[in-house]
Amino acid sequence: MEIIKTILPPENLKPLFKDASQLLFGQQFTDYMFTLTYNQEKGWHRPEIKPYGSLVMDPAALVFHYSQEVFEGQKAYKSPEGDILMFRPLENAKRLNRSLERMCMPTIPEVDILHYECELLKIEKRWIPDQKGTALYMRPTVIATEAILGVRPSSEFLFFIILSPSGPYFPEGFNPVGLWVSREISRAAEGGTGEVKAGGNYGGSLAAIKTAMEKGYSQVLWLDAKEHRYVEEVGAMNIFFVIEDKLVTPPLTGTILPGITRKSILDISPDLGITTEEKMITIEELCQGISDGRVTEMFGAGTAAVVSPIGKLNVDDREYTLNDNQTGPWSNKIYQELTAIQYGEKPDTYNWVYRIT
Ligand code: PLP
Ligand code: COI
Repeated sequence: MEIIKTILPPENLKPLFKDASQLLFGQQFTDYMFTLTYNQEKGWHRPEIKPYGSLVMDPAALVFHYSQEVFEGQKAYKSPEGDILMFRPLENAKRLNRSLERMCMPTIPEVDILHYECELLKIEKRWIPDQKGTALYMRPTVIATEAILGVRPSSEFLFFIILSPSGPYFPEGFNPVGLWVSREISRAAEGGTGEVKAGGNYGGSLAAIKTAMEKGYSQVLWLDAKEHRYVEEVGAMNIFFVIEDKLVTPPLTGTILPGITRKSILDISPDLGITTEEKMITIEELCQGISDGRVTEMFGAGTAAVVSPIGKLNVDDREYTLNDNQTGPWSNKIYQELTAIQYGEKPDTYNWVYRIT
């Protein structure tokens, strides 16, 4: 399908950010957005790149009432040669389709998603910051637009992609953050939508995030919803522990988002010299391990958060400190390796980098 493009005269473009090193996460948006419409008669149709702007929607649209919405989070980087790089974009497209299926929404061919992303990126290249630690964050999103109040799947949808030049997700940058463990509120339950990227997962987690922030922590460390014991993941990232020189992460049991960063870290770590294990771990074991020195590092991993070292953990109002609240050696090594691949600073031996020349 031919993309309909509405291109602005240069004088109508937004001023670019002044200093990439000052960029925060998701606060500024580029000049254009991509949209694609779905109805039952035509299926997905009318791909369009047009000036970034508000959506006009019926207030009865299903997304506003029953949260039939899914999204993705990925990044475009600028290589040292000035090419646009994307990291494993087909993995994001596949996950978007898994999310769409779970939420009764029509899937989009993965090659089409990638094509639309590339076309938008080519037009928006000037917005890709080139400093290490910054990138053009991409937010592909699908919403239910049919105006009807019955609780049933929508028959009309909108897919859009917006772009945001971004710096680190946490204001701490690549420095340790603190987590608070939620004992009562759960993020995801068995049979729910925790393993897909449905917006509703995040809405339901805000109450615990608010508490964590009030207590001075950056995010919540979620436990399983059944026994409230097993560590699952963090609000916007998967979790890793270094336990007696082994890299441990909880297995994907159906309530954890299968992170692309997580999967990549599990692949590169053995090559960096650390063995990995996917293992359930209780919060009690974790606290005991930190206290007796067997758990030496903890970090979160995700597209927005990249590798975020965790320096403090609050469990039942007791604070545990990891590695003197400093970035640990494995967190650092894994961060350096992953970002060197993502920014095209070293050969892409895993074949993960999609280059738009
Ligand atoms: N877990 C949750 C709940 C997330 O929102 C994210 C972010 O996308 C992740 C994990 C990490 O996933 P990825 O590495 O694919 O960005
Ligand atoms: C990402 O890492 O891309 C995410 O989607 C996390 C987000 C909820 C901020």
